[in-house]
Amino acid sequence: MVIRRLPQTSTLFRDACVFELDYLPSIINHRDAQLKELAIAVSSVGSGYCPTNTLIRGPSGTGKTICIQKIFDEVEADTSTLIPVYVNAAIEQTTFNIYQTIVEKVNGNVIMSTNMTINRLFRMIGEGLKEKGAALCLCLDDADTLPHCTVLNRVLSDLISISKVSTAGRIGFFLAVSSMGFDLSRALSPSVSASLQLHEVRFDPYSRDAVYDILNDRVEKGVFPGVISNDVLELVVETTEARKDIRLGIDLIQRLVNNAEDSGGDAVTIEDLLAVLEDSRTMFLARLVQSLPSEGQRTIKVFAEVVMRCEGQVYHAIDLYQWTKDALKCGRATFYRRLWSLHDAEILTLEKRTDGVTGYKVVFKFSPVQIVAVCEGDGM
Ligand SMILES: Nc1ncnc2c1ncn2[C@@H]1O[C@H](COP(=O)(O)OP(=O)(O)O)[C@@H](O)[C@H]1O
Ligand SMILES: [Mg+2]
Repeated sequence: MVIRRLPQTSTLFRDACVFELDYLPSIINHRDAQLKELAIAVSSVGSGYCPTNTLIRGPSGTGKTICIQKIFDEVEADTSTLIPVYVNAAIEQTTFNIYQTIVEKVNGNVIMSTNMTINRLFRMIGEGLKEKGAALCLCLDDADTLPHCTVLNRVLSDLISISKVSTAGRIGFFLAVSSMGFDLSRALSPSVSASLQLHEVRFDPYSRDAVYDILNDRVEKGVFPGVISNDVLELVVETTEARKDIRLGIDLIQRLVNNAEDSGGDAVTIEDLLAVLEDSRTMFLARLVQSLPSEGQRTIKVFAEVVMRCEGQVYHAIDLYQWTKDALKCGRATFYRRLWSLHDAEILTLEKRTDGVTGYKVVFKFSPVQIVAVCEGDGM
């Protein structure tokens, strides 16, 4: 856990808050096009025309949430006839909780859950909007993490119905999703889909230059000059870009500076960075291994034990089968099924052989020593 430091006790942090998860930069660079589209969409909700409902799609750490917050903050400051309501659907997972958040924002009431029903809350949303003569822009952030599509469907279809009966109760929707494979048209009923007519705003992963700019900006604001050298920053950028999530870089810088401060140093060295990277790689591997079913965990451990005795990290799948079939007690078809599931879990990669023989090469993404250590650490 990272403890937030008080600025006056820190010798390396100029402002440690800029590395916190909830920090909202005053200027969001590299998202001009998306900010513009969201601003147009939100103003369409407040206008007398049909609101543009928006699907905001992009992998984790691409700036979806901060862009939504930025636009909502501006609306909040500029107008009282449009109420922006942000719901973090990863936390508010039920219809009740979502309505509760909306009612608290629209009507200003604090809702005690014991004496309230979903239907009552729903009516209060319509009444609140009518009373204030205001429109609502509802953002369901991380909507793809709602455990049941029924929740998403119900909330949307209920609120669309309010929108239809009253001009004062106009409601526009922002749905933000991180999963690129999430098929909203399957999650929603045809009538809800047809009413929404979602316009998509894409948040593609940042380019290397953009990652550099964003991280450099945090470094300039957050730490004193010289604490993070350009060489260290370049390496952090490279690691961040490989994982496509800007959060990783921000978190890495914060950890590095904390470590340097704890050990009495006045700057982060490349050696500190390499040590932290090794640690986070091991943690990443441990998470991958834990997410495997028990047969997958046993298979990867047997593979690692066998290849530990060999040189290199690339093997022919057929050799691996011969070396491990007795220990795994499985036939060829089961072996290949398990191999592909380890490929899907991104612990290893299967590549077509290039030596004219049909079959695959197995490329391990982690060292076998690390794999065995992680498996034994978990008592597998
Ligand atoms: N363009 C940007 N400029 C500055 N910081 C950014 C930018 N994009 C993302 N961030 C930072 O990266 C982190 C993740 O952004 P977030 O909006 O939560 O991503 P997402 O919602 O797509 O997962 C946040 O700490 C945010 O401040
Ligand atoms: Mg987000």
